[in-house]
Amino acid sequence: MKETPLIDWLLGRSHWAQPDRAGLPLNRQLFDDIRGAILAGQLSAGTRLPPTREVAKGLSIARNTVLYAYERLTEEGYTLTHGGSGTYVGKAPPDPALRERVFGLSQASEIAPPRAESRLSARARELLDGAGASDRQVGSFVLGIPDVRQFPRATWQRLITQVWKTACQEQLGYGTRHGCPPLKHALAQYLALARGVDCSPEQIVVTQGSHQAIDLCARLLADPGDVVWVEDPGYWGARSVFRAAGLKVEAVPVDAQGMQPPVAPQTAPKLIFVTPSHQYPSGVVMSLARRRLLTELAHRYGAWIIEDDYDSEFRYHGAPQPSLQGLDPHRNTIYVGSFSKVLYPGLRLGFLILPPSLVDAFAVAHSELYRGGQLQIQTALALFIADGHYAAHIRRMRKIYGERQALLTQALQSRLDGEIDIVGTDTGLHLTVLLRRADDHRVSRAALAHGIVARPLSSYYADPVRAQNGLVLGYGGVSEEEIGPAVARLAVAIESVGGA
Ligand SMILES: Cc1ncc(COP(=O)(O)O)c(C=O)c1O
Repeated sequence: MKETPLIDWLLGRSHWAQPDRAGLPLNRQLFDDIRGAILAGQLSAGTRLPPTREVAKGLSIARNTVLYAYERLTEEGYTLTHGGSGTYVGKAPPDPALRERVFGLSQASEIAPPRAESRLSARARELLDGAGASDRQVGSFVLGIPDVRQFPRATWQRLITQVWKTACQEQLGYGTRHGCPPLKHALAQYLALARGVDCSPEQIVVTQGSHQAIDLCARLLADPGDVVWVEDPGYWGARSVFRAAGLKVEAVPVDAQGMQPPVAPQTAPKLIFVTPSHQYPSGVVMSLARRRLLTELAHRYGAWIIEDDYDSEFRYHGAPQPSLQGLDPHRNTIYVGSFSKVLYPGLRLGFLILPPSLVDAFAVAHSELYRGGQLQIQTALALFIADGHYAAHIRRMRKIYGERQALLTQALQSRLDGEIDIVGTDTGLHLTVLLRRADDHRVSRAALAHGIVARPLSSYYADPVRAQNGLVLGYGGVSEEEIGPAVARLAVAIESVGGA
């Protein structure tokens, strides 16, 4: 059986993920392309399709998207799988017209094979179609990853050992109190000082990261079909959570002041999801005027604002940005925090700060849905914060990340002068590069072939008309020595697609 140059063929296809097909889910586009190639005879019987991981990498799409397309090809009879050895083009394509023409079979003899896809819920299909999580967690310029090599392991290990020595039975059980009280106390004190958050420890519900926190808000504060406003461009992870809860996600444009909420919408939102301290991914900081407008509109519509404060600890320029929650006179803002960027993502700890009236409902629901746990880890984290290690680690990392960002900015400016504009450098672990000429999807694919992850900015937009052409580059986990060579490879990738 022969290998196929399918990846090259797909990459070379002019209409791959182009705007005229942008309404179609990516897995459907991939399915259509491969099916089309089989029917056109470009992929003959017995040809082996490339491994899903390779296709995902080559096309900068989620592996699930490819798996989904391959599964459907097999289910519809275009391909066969041989006990884990791969996916092969079948001998008799099932397309009714083709079968009739080539094999003399009548359409009446077609028996539609059952499709696993059709047995998934509509919410699951939407979730899979919009899937954006990448398998790649390390290297230049992977997004959203802190430098986990800098995590103070020795201190953490000492605290964990200390907690285990004295762990009572309760600490090894389910987390029925929606988070360990010492952690909530330490957090409330820290956040009041560092983030201007207005809360008592009782208002905190500890979660497994922001995603679980957002999921709880979606399930408890809105019903299927209700409208949630999200920023456009925006965080695909939150969009996925809302879609999985059956909510109607409405993309609201972002300008230089942050989310631009419509003042007379057709349907009032139930939820408004924002990243005011560091808009994801554009880097815009929401202006005070916009914060006021948003809190007033939320009050008018009876909507809850979900403030995702995911990486604002790392602010390099400009005045510190207090939280929206602390500014909301109507107390409709729910603050979502995470330890993923400050400590490490695998810790899976985050938290919600709720208005007092919601705490009981969230606590019971958290326990019913997830049971909770990790109380020894939460106790160790409480000590880590109370003993000052948390603030010290943030200070140290802010300096390191600030230096990396300066290095990255300089390298980009000297290699790509005239080709790019750099934005969103005040805060966080990523910046955004606007491309003046080269197409961001093509650059992203070319960069991947050079071992560089550079997510296309346009892929963060729900509305292709609004989409800006650029790259989102994470620098948190990229060491100083890697930055220069990585930018050089990125520049080569940009040149190869007709920029620079
Ligand atoms: C905008 C945004 N919010 C939240 C998160 C973190 O989510 P979690 O706390 O579940 O790790 C990320 C991670 O990349 C993010 O980019």
